[in-house]
Amino acid sequence: MTAKELLEQAPIERYEAEVLLAHILGVQRSWLFSHGDEGLASDDEQAFMAHARARASGEPLAYLMGYRNFWSLRLIVDQHVLIPRRESEHLVEWALECLDTGEQKVLDLGTGSGAIALACKSERSDLSITGVDQSEQALACARRNSEALGLEVCWKQGSWFEPVEAGGWDLVVSNPPYIAANDVHLGQGDLPAEPSGALVGGKTGLEMIEHIVTEAPPYLRASGWLLLEHGFDQGEPVRALLSDRGFSHVATRKDYSGQPRISGGQWLN
Ligand SMILES: C[S@@+](CC[C@H](N)C(=O)[O-])C[C@H]1O[C@@H](n2cnc3c(N)ncnc32)[C@H](O)[C@@H]1O
Repeated sequence: MTAKELLEQAPIERYEAEVLLAHILGVQRSWLFSHGDEGLASDDEQAFMAHARARASGEPLAYLMGYRNFWSLRLIVDQHVLIPRRESEHLVEWALECLDTGEQKVLDLGTGSGAIALACKSERSDLSITGVDQSEQALACARRNSEALGLEVCWKQGSWFEPVEAGGWDLVVSNPPYIAANDVHLGQGDLPAEPSGALVGGKTGLEMIEHIVTEAPPYLRASGWLLLEHGFDQGEPVRALLSDRGFSHVATRKDYSGQPRISGGQWLN
């Protein structure tokens, strides 16, 4: 069968079928247009149809392909980690702005695939970064990424601040689980296939964020920053949590589609 014929039979959306077939053949997507009439090996045909059927039944493209591009990095992902989102690149941008020159200590809480920690390290090799996750399987993925990319990060398993020492952190960043347990979005898109421990933040969705905001101050150095990703409708409550805890310069930033998605504050006390 030719690439053109195979794409026509795929039970999934055309663009995704092209991306998947190019991935299986190990070619650029554009190759499919210039070589669309060439016959394919039957192993490739079978592998493609198996992947396309899995995609049609809800398996995320990133898990099928085994990677997702984030910032300037190609990150390995598997079913134990959240698929890194573009919104989190804003967290990386803001994090880099908060940091002084010279060696700085950065803590990434709920690091998952290591996306935020590794993107920061890729921009500033002088940073000393620690990534924490409760999930040992997520940390295994983060470790694979740091090895593949040659970016050194210290990975620690445990709950939020529990595995690190208090004091001295210049910046704490986190994209914690923040979706309410009964939110209908949990049944949509890639979310049903992603680990619920990476998504659900409790009954209201704010529980993990509240915990991190409450616990953060003794871990931050004076003038250190705490930056948090959150849901599009959580900007106001997250700012209130930060202000009530005593953070200064509390602010929210918007994502590419204009939604308020990241809030942070500076610990000046
Ligand atoms: C929304 S995902 C973010 C993953 C990654 N930082 C990113 O932006 O792609 C949240 C992560 O928090 C981790 N997590 C959940 N509860 C935790 C806890 N109590 N302590 C540490 N990490 C936790 C999950 O395992 C998951 O990897």
